[in-house]
Amino acid sequence: MKTIIEPFRIKSVEPLTRTTPSEREELLKRAGYNLFELRASDILLDLLTDSGTSAMSTAQWAAIMRGDESYAGSESFYRLQRTVQELTGFRHVIPTHQGRAAERILFSVLCKPGHTVPNNTHFDTTRANIEFTGARAVDLPLAAAADTQARLPFKGDMDVEALEALIEATGADRIPLIMVTVTNNSGGGQPVSMGNLRAVRRVASRHGIPFYLDACRFAENSWFIREREPGYAGASPRDIAREMFSLADGCTFSAKKDAFANIGGLLCTNDTRLAEQEKNLLILTEGFPTYGGLAGRDLEAIAVGLEEVLQPDYLEYRIASTAYLGRHIADHGVPIVEPPGGHAIYIDAGRMLPRIPRRQFPGQALAVELYRHAGVRSVEIGSLMFGEAARHELLRLAIPRRVYTQSHIDYLVEAILEVHERREGIRGLEIVSEPPFLRHFSARLRPVAE
Ligand code: F0G
Repeated sequence: MKTIIEPFRIKSVEPLTRTTPSEREELLKRAGYNLFELRASDILLDLLTDSGTSAMSTAQWAAIMRGDESYAGSESFYRLQRTVQELTGFRHVIPTHQGRAAERILFSVLCKPGHTVPNNTHFDTTRANIEFTGARAVDLPLAAAADTQARLPFKGDMDVEALEALIEATGADRIPLIMVTVTNNSGGGQPVSMGNLRAVRRVASRHGIPFYLDACRFAENSWFIREREPGYAGASPRDIAREMFSLADGCTFSAKKDAFANIGGLLCTNDTRLAEQEKNLLILTEGFPTYGGLAGRDLEAIAVGLEEVLQPDYLEYRIASTAYLGRHIADHGVPIVEPPGGHAIYIDAGRMLPRIPRRQFPGQALAVELYRHAGVRSVEIGSLMFGEAARHELLRLAIPRRVYTQSHIDYLVEAILEVHERREGIRGLEIVSEPPFLRHFSARLRPVAE
């Protein structure tokens, strides 16, 4: 059979609330046309993020009941440690309350002013945590990935020549680590090939620089390698993931993505001295190393999630349902970042709404219109979020894991196509007030006058 189905059935449901277009118009006004300011109960389909929004399985809920809440030496920690060590091979496993806490600790220990950290593309918290130490964060995506329409199988790869040039220009002693983000979230949720990871590993070894993965979506990346990279067609996602981790010296991880957990993160390393320093910082702000800012039950949910996420049936469905959304809107003329990524579809709003200039935020205008029309929440990744530094004006539709069904996705396709149909009437926005940094979270906007 060709039909790919959701490989689960539903045991517990959460009702959705419907609002009318006129109610949504009022809610938008009150929220200052900023979708972060909406109440979740006023949203029909929430595609703001795939982070912390997964549906947990019966096995995860059952594991939660056996959470060992001991302050030190919790059994739940040892279960998680065993799972992570078997999967990644990393010697030291440090739990944190979410991904950015792992980033903060890692960079606080490794980075200082004058340092540079390269990445295929830094996620915004990664960049912010590096810059907070006084170091510089440099993105080295493939030059060809700048074209949203280019259909490359591994569009998330790092530009290895640019990496060599950066090391040459900066000096290896001023590069405390090299990072690669799998999948490349800010670059459109695009995968990184094993070949690219191997090439980065070789460069890192040659210069004696540690190599870390930002492994938030490691399982989705493994599936793309199996589907697209010669030599991996029959391999299990677990074996592919193991090979990816074996190339690195450590990783940061947000369990809110590919571990189906609602909270949690990990910092892993093979370096024993570094792990000691990291644990000292952990105790200062996160907690004792056998819980790291989490409850014992959270550690259990992560351990079970890390096993479930590598099931081939799940990954096949996951990647196919994201691609289904992407293809159905792109084949009807909606410009998306091609090819569809793993956890999200990115609409190229700059291309879809060429009449709206960057300073009137085409991505945000589209996000507002999609909510107004259909009650769908998405997120702008463009000039509102990044200001002058924005490379594209995108709208991200992130798909929570195991949460929405095929008919929800069909509703979404219909909504996007209807908005696309009447795109000429969409108005740009202007800022009324904004905070000094990370303005997209709380800026207030209004439609520009006709
Ligand atoms: N790295 C990547 C690639 C991410 O996508 C995220 C979070 C983090 C690190 C930080 O992890 O949220 O647990 O502290 N991404 C979410 C998103 C927020 O919507 O893309 P965290």
